[in-house]
Amino acid sequence: MDFVDQLKSSIDIVDVVGQYVRLRKAGTRYIGLCPFHTERTPSFGVHSVHQFYKCFGCGAGGDVIKFVMEIEGLTFYEALKSLAERYGIPMPKRAEYSDPETKLRAALYWMHEIARDLFRAALRSSEGAAARAYLAKRGVSAALVQEFELGYADASGHLLTRAFEKEGFNAEQMEASGLVIRRQEDGRFYDRFRGRLMFPIHNEQGKVIAFGGRALADGQEPKYLNSSDTEIYHKKRVLFNLHRAKEAIRKSNRAVLVEGYMDVIGVWAAGVREVVASCGTALVSDQVRSLRRHTERVVVNFDPDQAGVAAAERSIEILLEENVRVRVLELEGGDDPDEYIKKNGAEMYRARVEQAPGYFQWLADRARARFDMQTAEGRIAGLQFLLPAIRRVNDKLERAAIAEEVANYLHIERGLVLEHFRKAAAGRRETLEKVRELPRPVEQILLNALLASEEVRKAVLPKLKGISEWKRFATRRIFETLIQIEESGAPFRFAELEARLADSDKEALAAVVFADKPEDEEYSLEQALACIRTLEEAEREARRSELKTRIKEAERAGMLEEALRITEELSRLDRN
Ligand code: UTP
Ligand code: MN
Repeated sequence: MDFVDQLKSSIDIVDVVGQYVRLRKAGTRYIGLCPFHTERTPSFGVHSVHQFYKCFGCGAGGDVIKFVMEIEGLTFYEALKSLAERYGIPMPKRAEYSDPETKLRAALYWMHEIARDLFRAALRSSEGAAARAYLAKRGVSAALVQEFELGYADASGHLLTRAFEKEGFNAEQMEASGLVIRRQEDGRFYDRFRGRLMFPIHNEQGKVIAFGGRALADGQEPKYLNSSDTEIYHKKRVLFNLHRAKEAIRKSNRAVLVEGYMDVIGVWAAGVREVVASCGTALVSDQVRSLRRHTERVVVNFDPDQAGVAAAERSIEILLEENVRVRVLELEGGDDPDEYIKKNGAEMYRARVEQAPGYFQWLADRARARFDMQTAEGRIAGLQFLLPAIRRVNDKLERAAIAEEVANYLHIERGLVLEHFRKAAAGRRETLEKVRELPRPVEQILLNALLASEEVRKAVLPKLKGISEWKRFATRRIFETLIQIEESGAPFRFAELEARLADSDKEALAAVVFADKPEDEEYSLEQALACIRTLEEAEREARRSELKTRIKEAERAGMLEEALRITEELSRLDRN
């Protein structure tokens, strides 16, 4: 068995996919929202027996390695490595696996680990005294410093540069890391982050891939210096703290979205662990998708200042476009989450999160504050203000429900809202629910039973070869391939079968193995044999009607002897 097979046989795809997608068990299958496209009703399945995933909405599908490649944007080798590391499976050192891109990325991960460790050590050293004092002033405990791996980049400009040179990283790797930069004048490297409090940024697997560095001195600009994009960091795809928060996000089935690194730490310390932030950028849809794999409910809690409100509005729009249910938490007193918690306590903050109003209530409140709801014109203006947001809600029923709510809230006649609404909705593209056509029950049961066990294959495939009825199946090519594999004498593997099929048959195969059936039902040999009997009966029936037709033809042609002979044949058939 080569390493790929060994790896695949020692890990469970359900467990791996479950690290990225909330899955619900349904028999031997697990169902969830597809992480590769936006959807509201689940069309994504993971099969625990056959160890593959399939989305009937966007067509994505494959084995566990393909899944990790797609979702993490990794090469084949990196996906293997990532899985091997995650499950503690030793990986053979094989040079042919590592292409230059993979090697570079491995170097960058390593450099970021080195950097994090050096920053942490610097924070503990005498040079880190001012940074420690700042953290103390902000009420960040030693335990939090530890947990968030906070550090300090000293002012020297050669902390990392020297370490990287000592480790033997080459100029290309140094430059690609973004952690050090080359000076124009003499071509020498120096550290990009200097005299800053350092916040490591992790990917979903918990690897350090970037940093945010906060200024400590007065007049030091910018206030936060963030890593630029690199081979391992795409800031538009990353949410700060997601790797720590994702478990709590699933448990509570919601995420709290805040603006800043300090807010995340404050909110986390207040016991709200489902907290994330975007890293110094406006929220974008890729980030929402990575969040949405864990929950479809988000509480937005941004700073109350002008920039914060504008960012909140933009973020909410994006969240709604991705079908997220949004609630908006506005803290009174003009404080950001971190400050609010410091002043009012964790208990109070948690209560505010619980009570955060739904998005449309929040928006309608803003409309009410802006327009005079006493007058008809004011109410219409209020409605106009709300329409663009309503239009963005993708789900038709949801949109109708919201229209109703808004009408009540603004005291506008319902008919009027609906009319505006229809106009707004006209021309929008409704995505059709993908219709999955399933083959006949006998095909489904027989195929599933054949896939389920060697026992069934041994007993049933030989019988199947003597029957021609299945050649009329929509899935006949799957049966043919099964027979071919059986005849070749090779051990049966689902992946092998799948690989041999054309795309349309792959789809059919996936549809059959994911088709609804009673919970935990096992396909048995008896069921398979019953299918065989059904097929044999169908074949006899076909033969009967053929013989009857021939008898009639013979009679009509006056060939009575021939007619008699066929009638005898027919009665022999009936006696069986
Ligand atoms: P804030 O200015 O609100 O920072 O910016 P903060 O996190 O609350 O930090 P403190 O409390 O002032 O120390 C919110 C977020 O915007 C990004 C950072 O991600 C920051 O956490 N930001 C802000 C930048 O990327 N660059 C900046 O210059 C400022
Ligand atoms: Mn802030």
